[in-house]
Parts: sequence; structure tokens; C-alpha cells
Amino acid sequence: MIKISPSVLACDFTKLGEEVSDIQKCGADMVHLDVMDGMFVTNISFGLPVIEALRKKSDMVFDVHLMIESPSRYAKRFIEAGADILTFHIEAEKNPGELLDNIRAFGAKSSISIKPNTPAEAVFPYLEKCDMVLVMTVEPGYGGQALIPETLTKVREIRDEAARRGLELDIQVDGGITPANAKDAISAGANVLVAGSSVFKAEDRKLAIDLLRG
Ligand code: DX5
Ligand code: ZN
Repeated sequence: MIKISPSVLACDFTKLGEEVSDIQKCGADMVHLDVMDGMFVTNISFGLPVIEALRKKSDMVFDVHLMIESPSRYAKRFIEAGADILTFHIEAEKNPGELLDNIRAFGAKSSISIKPNTPAEAVFPYLEKCDMVLVMTVEPGYGGQALIPETLTKVREIRDEAARRGLELDIQVDGGITPANAKDAISAGANVLVAGSSVFKAEDRKLAIDLLRG
């Protein structure tokens, strides 16, 4: 089953709670929360207090994407704040295996992400410890960019390696996903699609989510 995770980066932040309940009504499977620290990426978005506040208003699955340096310092706190799935970047962490184990031990689903220039093989040593792998389809930092088609080759490589090992892995794609290219991502092996602009800026959000699902 294909799951859709709209990124709130493209929503109206003055009414975050309502925006999240709106996409839930429109059939989204989870909500994608992008945390940026101005260090790992140049942009700064939001952090713990916002997630904690939203948790009180929403029972959706919180899919938290950390774009921060040394994510191990904050993993436990983001899970306590409400993250159900916690993704960090392999490029930002010295001990990815240990952090994946800790995320599971803290009670969340573990997930690791690679930027467009990081090869698929970088995550192979950790696949057994991952509930999900996030393949960035744009350079992390901003919503509204165009998908880099070459990144989908890595989705295929990770899907094939997981199948070879008999692992039921979620593979998420994030950045520039639209109804027009969702099929390519799905046929490459992705089963969780993040979509910021193409859902929140759509005139008909329900239709946008249905179209993404294919
Ligand atoms: C980019 C973020 C994405 C972004 C996606 O750094 O990780 O989640 O918000 O937005 P769109 O779908 O507009 O590219
Ligand atoms: Zn993201």
C-alpha cells in the first residue's frame, strides 16, 4: 500500500493545527514534519515546542524528518515530543547504527536518510536496523524544488537489496513529488511519498492525495 505523508513546510503556519486536521480528512496517512537547524541545512524551520503542541491536537502518525547536526543529541526528546517515525541523516551522524537502535528502544520507528549525492550503498550496513529509509529526491533545505530523476535509481538499489535480504522496508521519497512523477517513484520501489507543495498548495487536496497514490 502506498502511503502519503504531506509536509507541513508548505502549509499555512498561522493555522498549523487546522491544516494538519484538513489533510487527515483528505486521506493522508501521516504528516511529515521537517526540522531544520540552520547548520546541517542553511534554513531554519521549527523544533520541539511546535511538535509537542501539535501532538496535543492531532492523533496522526508524526513522520519527523530531522535535518540537524548530531541528531543523537535530540532523538529521545523528539520521540517524547510526539514523533512516531524519526528520520535522521546519515551525513550528520557518527554512529548511525547505534542511533537507529536507540530510536527503536525509545519507542519510535527508525529511519535513516541520504542526500542526493550520497550513494545507496551507504545505508546497506544498517538496513536491518531500519523501519524506513528516506531517499531525498532534492537537496534538503527547502520545499518547492524539482525532483532530481537520478535519485530514483537509488530507490531501486535499496529496494532490491532489501528484497535480497528478505526485509520489509518502507522506502520514502521526499522533495518535488507530484502526481506526474509519483508513478516513477513507486515503480522504482518507493511506498511512502512525501509531498509538500503538491498537496498543501493544491486547490483540491483530497484529489491531489488520491492522484499521488496512483
Ligand atoms: C525538503 C524537505 C521536504 C519538503 C518537501 O528539505 O525535507 O520535506 O518540505 O516539499 P515539496 O514537496 O514541496 O518539495
Ligand atoms: Zn522532509
